[in-house]
Amino acid sequence: MYSKTISVLIFISTLLLTACSDSSEPFELTELTVETAQKVDNNKVFNVYKSPACGCCTSWIEYLEKQGADVDSIHPGNLSEIKSQLGVLPRYRSCHTAVSAEGYVFEGHVPVKYINQFLANKPVDAIGLAVPGMPVGSPGMEVGDRLSPYAVLLLKKDGTSSVYAQVNAFAEQY
Ligand code: CU
Ligand code: CU
Repeated sequence: MYSKTISVLIFISTLLLTACSDSSEPFELTELTVETAQKVDNNKVFNVYKSPACGCCTSWIEYLEKQGADVDSIHPGNLSEIKSQLGVLPRYRSCHTAVSAEGYVFEGHVPVKYINQFLANKPVDAIGLAVPGMPVGSPGMEVGDRLSPYAVLLLKKDGTSSVYAQVNAFAEQY
């Protein structure tokens, strides 16, 4: 996926550079395109630790992939041991644990909107985000457009948390 993106970028850059000979405007556009794409790419690679039998995990992964993420699913023998190693305390746990390329943790059915927000502006002393349990209506847990309101928690390195976002309506997640 990464090399495919690069090839596409080189192709686009070539096109724009060709067009660039008669105006300086397309050149600025090229720089912007490459910079943005590399940033997005790095932030869209995840390892997801889950149980092979979990259906809602698969739904969440499919949702993540639809947003352009590059996901590797991993099925460890002891999932809770992985969560402990990653610093996700029992009270924050859900069914699956996603880990970004840089090692940030996204526990449970976290909306991509908040993952992107977090990765674009990483709070100091945070290890990631969590949606504990499995709220009805969160991404991968859809039942029509019903929603059981929930909080997206910001997990801190010291084991404490704070509310990163409060979700009260289905549409707020997208
Ligand atoms: Cu789940
Ligand atoms: Cu899951």
